[in-house]
Amino acid sequence: MRFCYVWCTEGSGFASKSYYGSGFFHMEMKVPGRDSAGVVTTFYMSQGKAQGNDELDFEFLGNREGKPYTLQTNVIVQGHGDREQKIQLWFDPTSSFHTYKILWNPYQIVFFVDNHPIRVFQNRTNIGAQYPTQPMKVMGSIWNGEDWATDGGKEKINWTYAPFKAQYQGFDVDGCTSGNFKTQLCSSSDLWWNSAQYQSLSATEESLYEYVKKNYLTYDYCSDKSRFPIPPPECPH
Ligand SMILES: *[C@@H]1O[C@H](CO)[C@@H](O)[C@H](O)[C@H]1NC(C)=O
Ligand SMILES: *[C@@H]1O[C@H](CO)[C@@H](O)[C@H](O)[C@H]1NC(C)=O
Repeated sequence: MRFCYVWCTEGSGFASKSYYGSGFFHMEMKVPGRDSAGVVTTFYMSQGKAQGNDELDFEFLGNREGKPYTLQTNVIVQGHGDREQKIQLWFDPTSSFHTYKILWNPYQIVFFVDNHPIRVFQNRTNIGAQYPTQPMKVMGSIWNGEDWATDGGKEKINWTYAPFKAQYQGFDVDGCTSGNFKTQLCSSSDLWWNSAQYQSLSATEESLYEYVKKNYLTYDYCSDKSRFPIPPPECPH
């Protein structure tokens, strides 16, 4: 989603009125079926600032009919992204609704698909890593990403298949609203999503996460030596 408001000429989206300073954000989604190459469907948190933006992204990268979607996630801090991970899903996200969730607290950011953690981004600012510090809105969108989204931009949108429809339902937020992006985060451990139980994965979640990483992870910036000869500080060492 980065910089979409600058160059994303074809698309549409929605945003919450409120900014949140931490929370657990749920959305059920069904993404466009048939030939969706070049179409990007998202659910994300963002400030929507042109510069210095913080953002947590789910991005569904469409594909030619019969080929699987890639689900990309990214964490952008102060406008600095380049933290892509990609997974293949173990189901067809076009045929039924599934739940996509973002947990965000002072300790960790966890992306869930149904109840499987698919990505954990821990707060490692103590060892020099970046971590979001700015309140964000909840957003969703569908847009033309044919320049990059499918097979590195080789597969373009086939407009014969338009309109491309993404469906969203069951939106649920347990979050701490924060008046605007200048106000502070919500780090109190009295908020349940900040409490001890949500500061790291449970044993069950840990094993689901290991299973996803082993079987469905297709790209991880942390192990992309050509981009990062020295892995960024938030990566496991
Ligand atoms: C990240 O963790 C540090 C402690 O290691 C804490 O001081 C800081 O407030 C946390 N950052 C956020 C944005 O919650
Ligand atoms: C788009 O899809 C239609 C219908 O399958 C097909 O006939 C056409 O060749 C496709 N166009 C391109 C540019 O691939």
